[in-house]
Amino acid sequence: MKRRDFIQLIPPITTGLLLPENLQFYSFFNSINRKDFGNDFVWGAACAAYQVEGAWNLDGKGLSIWDTFTHKKGTIYKNQNGDIACDFYNRYAEDIALLKYLGIPNFRFSISWSRILPNGVGTINQRGIDFYHRVIDTCLENNITPWITLYHWDLPQVLEDKGGWTNREIINWFSEFVSICTKSYGDKVKNWMVLNEPMAFTGVGYFLGIHAPGKKGISNFLPAVHHAAMCQAEGARVIRTNIADAQIGTTFSCSHIDPKKAKERHYKAAQNSDALINRLFIEPALGLGYPTDTIPLLKRIEKYMQSGDEQKLKYDFDFIGIQNYTREVVKHWILNPILWSKQIPASKRKVELTEMGWEVYPEGIYYLLKKFAAYKNIPPLYVTENGAAFEDVVDDEYVHDSKRTKFIESYLRQVLNAKKEGVDVRGYFYWSFTDNFEWAEGYRTRFGLVHVDYASQKRIVKDSGFWFKKFLEG
Ligand code: GAL
Repeated sequence: MKRRDFIQLIPPITTGLLLPENLQFYSFFNSINRKDFGNDFVWGAACAAYQVEGAWNLDGKGLSIWDTFTHKKGTIYKNQNGDIACDFYNRYAEDIALLKYLGIPNFRFSISWSRILPNGVGTINQRGIDFYHRVIDTCLENNITPWITLYHWDLPQVLEDKGGWTNREIINWFSEFVSICTKSYGDKVKNWMVLNEPMAFTGVGYFLGIHAPGKKGISNFLPAVHHAAMCQAEGARVIRTNIADAQIGTTFSCSHIDPKKAKERHYKAAQNSDALINRLFIEPALGLGYPTDTIPLLKRIEKYMQSGDEQKLKYDFDFIGIQNYTREVVKHWILNPILWSKQIPASKRKVELTEMGWEVYPEGIYYLLKKFAAYKNIPPLYVTENGAAFEDVVDDEYVHDSKRTKFIESYLRQVLNAKKEGVDVRGYFYWSFTDNFEWAEGYRTRFGLVHVDYASQKRIVKDSGFWFKKFLEG
């Protein structure tokens, strides 16, 4: 099973297979225009430390679980790793200049924990702190607003050696890291995201073992889930303590899920998958607890809970980040006694695919926005990731990627549909700004608006990047 097979096992059963009445109308007759989203709508592009920075062992940085994992043979496509990646550590100024050139006014990036705290806790690496000051200052000088993700999957290896996310101590370790980051950058940066896709890093890293740290099984997964959910709220409280006027969010991987057929047992399978993938982290944050009603096995999380945890899981976020790429179709499956569900691979469904093998399904983002908006007391939503990997045709100085442009336009249309129907969605960040290291896929798949030739580190703006520039110019 691949990562996406797992993390996409879920979303909202809002649906059935029919489109809402006006959805098709919007899709076919509305041309997409920046001004339709309103003047305050936030537009941006995103990346993450391990995927772009390189400089894995420079200037005092400690090892992260991704350094260790990628250096093991057989874990990543062609044994590739992020040692150099896009060399963002040295080329950040060039990349931020490109953002400015494309008129992209917001930049989402993450902080490498082991660059700041090589031992996970304790001694601070000043050269690490200085690096992010340079990145932030360069953004601000170019009128680009920085949005920081505190944890995008690169845990310090020394902490993993003590159990990583399965060790409850991580709540203290993470709080210390968040405290240092917010005290260092809080004067300049107001937009913060605590975690990137907790379901993905616990599910793929601590259950399936196909991402770092490569751990498997329910006895790793359940404590990792609880500690991540605790850190999600505790991290937010630390940000608030240090930056009173911060906008605090966290991000979730989500996918719309349809049953294979309109049959009771397939609906049930879809509901179970939805609970695991789409509900597991948002609901405790909203004070609703884990979705044990749908997945009784989650009751086993209680074993890792201490008194008062239920309250501590709750936090009133200022925003929630929705990250969506595709949808899943599932069927009832007796051999999966936890979810009773099995994903039907997109490749077997005669649908349009991206290079990741994921279905292109723009309506999914509409359904998800509606689903999340339906929670009581949900804060404003931002699409903090959406994008696609397609084969890019590099033709001298141009990269032709019409499929990507079409993809962005079609997903944006659906974001707009949701907004027009009253969903409080306030922004859209394309994933990713440049091509980068795509986890288990290495450099095989490219998501960027900007092409990176990894041998020369030359950047070429793709046709989709020029399309986005024009779109943003209105
Ligand atoms: C997300 C993840 C990103 C990127 C993207 C495309 O799940 O946050 O780091 O890898 O998927 O696969």
